[in-house]
Amino acid sequence: MNFEFQNPTRLIFGAGTLARLGEVVAGCGGKALVVTGGGSVKRNGTFGRAAASLAGAGVGMAECAGVEPNPRISSVERGAQIVREQGCDVVVAIGGGSTMDAAKAIAAAAVYDGDPWDFFPHGQDRVVAPAAALPVVTVPTLAATGSESNGGAVITNERTTVKSFVKSPVLYPRTAIVDPELTVSVPRDQTAYGVCDLITHVTESYFNGIGGTPIQDRFAEGVILTAMEWGPRAVADGSDVEARAQVQWAALVALNGWVQVGTQGMAPVHMIEHTLSAHHDVTHGAGLAVVNPAWMRFAARARTGRFTQFAERVLGLAPKGSDDLACALDGIDRFEAFLRSIGCPTRLSEIGIGEGLLERYAEDTLLVVRDADGNLPGRPALTRDDIVAVLRAAL
Ligand code: NZQ
Ligand code: ZN
Repeated sequence: MNFEFQNPTRLIFGAGTLARLGEVVAGCGGKALVVTGGGSVKRNGTFGRAAASLAGAGVGMAECAGVEPNPRISSVERGAQIVREQGCDVVVAIGGGSTMDAAKAIAAAAVYDGDPWDFFPHGQDRVVAPAAALPVVTVPTLAATGSESNGGAVITNERTTVKSFVKSPVLYPRTAIVDPELTVSVPRDQTAYGVCDLITHVTESYFNGIGGTPIQDRFAEGVILTAMEWGPRAVADGSDVEARAQVQWAALVALNGWVQVGTQGMAPVHMIEHTLSAHHDVTHGAGLAVVNPAWMRFAARARTGRFTQFAERVLGLAPKGSDDLACALDGIDRFEAFLRSIGCPTRLSEIGIGEGLLERYAEDTLLVVRDADGNLPGRPALTRDDIVAVLRAAL
């Protein structure tokens, strides 16, 4: 192992911590652009409490409401323009991953003299790394992406139906205020998709990492087991704040970088899913529930040992040796059954996708990320035809 790690986001976690928003934001700037989604935070009172906290701390406020799920580059452009017009010096995101991602991209776009789509790989000659960004404070209202404390953002260009990502040290939020009470209103289906998303964040590095990372394996297994224990409780009873808290902590840990450290993991399942949500606007976690088991069955033949370990340690199976393909596949079946048990789809047809565009999805995925041989990075790397085969198996 050989790595460097830094996550600079300050974390304030616990029920009731929303009240500290004003004090936290006042430490970053005097006028906040408050970014929100389609209205859930206004309907459930979170926005009003946040605004009161900001006003109480003397922080001025402008608004960028209406960020869509699978946030669009046009929303980023709109937000950056409001920042400039209103003279904001800090960006506050109150919402799910879409809102937080848009807020981060706005924070970088507002101080960039060019097209913000330059930050996102989409086949262009030169990808621009954001050089600076306004400070961002995140208030997640949905447990899923971990965006609240990482340096990534995923944005869709609706004009070209390409969904791509940017990762940069300048995009780490200054502070994440993680108040599980804000997630009790998340509907049952979105709760389940969030559980799937967080689990997939750690399965990506678990299965695509270099191996020889025993602590990281145990971290990943701990996150998955915790999500499989507490996720169904949060799905069954959305008002269970204890279950909400455990799931939200798991989601944060799953993608704040700590589990991935040293694994050199890659994220082929995410890259394929992003293309599906770009074309069909499906919820990210639902798309992952469809793609991940199909990808796992494909990859298990190449790295049987990793999947046998997963079957044994996470699903409690008893393999015959460390390379037991039958046991590995049984583990994947049981994992897929878990996803179904909490209400996730596991077939493309369930999310309204047929076989018409499978080649196009593969090509668009490779437009965003490809290795020197033109394949999708992962262990194993996937050719265009491999991606089509994975998707075909999920029809
Ligand atoms: O838009 P509003 O009205 O707020 O409603 C949202 C939306 O309809 C609703 N919601 C959120 N909090 C709620 C709530 N409804 C009731 N009560 C609440 N407290 O949930 C719906 C989905 O919201 P969204 O933000 O889209 O979901 P999620 O958090 O799953 O974010 C998904 C986005 O994040 C990207 C995905 O690709 C997708 O675009 N990702 C970002 C990552 C990152 N930055 O690190 C990593 C992930 O792998 C992922 O790719
Ligand atoms: Zn994800």
